Amino acid sequence: MIIDTHTHLYVEQFDEDRDQVVKRAIESGVEKMLLPNIDSSTIDRMMDLVHKYPKNCYPMLGLHPGNVNADFEIELKVIRERLNAVSNCIAIGEIGMDLYWDKTFVEQQKIAFREQIAWAKELDLPIVIHAREAFQEIFQILDELNDEQLSGVFHCFTGTEEEAKHIQEYGNFKLGIGGVVTYKKSELPEVLKTVPLEAIILETDSPYLPPVPYRGKRNESDYINLVADKLVDIYGVSRNEIEMVTTANAVELFQLTV
Ligand code: NI
Repeated sequence: MIIDTHTHLYVEQFDEDRDQVVKRAIESGVEKMLLPNIDSSTIDRMMDLVHKYPKNCYPMLGLHPGNVNADFEIELKVIRERLNAVSNCIAIGEIGMDLYWDKTFVEQQKIAFREQIAWAKELDLPIVIHAREAFQEIFQILDELNDEQLSGVFHCFTGTEEEAKHIQEYGNFKLGIGGVVTYKKSELPEVLKTVPLEAIILETDSPYLPPVPYRGKRNESDYINLVADKLVDIYGVSRNEIEMVTTANAVELFQLTV
C-alpha cells in the first residue's frame, strides 16, 4: 500500500471524473489519500469527498499561505470553527509561507503560520508545510516554535542538502517527495542520497506537478507509483521496501489506522 500524503482531489480539475480518479488510485495500491485544505471556500468540497470515501480520504484543515490576504483573520476564524466541529481531521494544513508569487502579505503569512502552529500544538496534530521561496522565514519561525511534541512534513520538498538536514534536526519532521524528483533537471535525487528513507513520505500534490511522463498534464494520485519507482533507483532498494518504509512513516506521522 502507498499513501498519497498530499492530494487536492476536491478541486474543480477533478469535477468531471473524480470517482474514477479515486478508483484508479485505490486499484493501483494508493488506498489512502490525505487532503490538504486551501481556504474556507474549499472545506465543504473536501469534506464531501471524505464522507464519500471514509476509509480512503482524510481531511486536513488550514489556510494555504498563497491564500493569506487582507481577510486572513476572518479566514482563520472560519477554518478554526470548522476544525472544532470536524472529528476526523488528521493535520493542520496546508500552512506555511509562499514568497514566490507575491510578497505583499508576508507579515500576514507569518502571523497566520504562527497561529496555525499554535492550533497544532493545542490539538496535538501534525502540520503540513508549504514552503516556496521561504525556507529562511519558515526556519526562523520553526526554530523558535519547534518542541518535542510538534511534528509535520515539508510538503513538496525541493530544497538543498543543508535544508534537508535542518528539517531532520527538528526531530519529528518529514520531507514530502513528489513528481519533481522525476524531472530531468531536478537536483532532488542527489540531495536525497543524503536523506534516509525513514525521513521521507510520498505525495503527488495533484492536480499539480505531475511526474514524468505526464508533465504538462493533470496529476492524480495513482501517478505516485512513478515517484515510488524513481525512489527505487535513488535508494537502490526494492520497490517493496520503498512502499513499506514510506507508508509506515506516513502512518506514524498522521496517526492513521490501517
Ligand atoms: Ni498543496
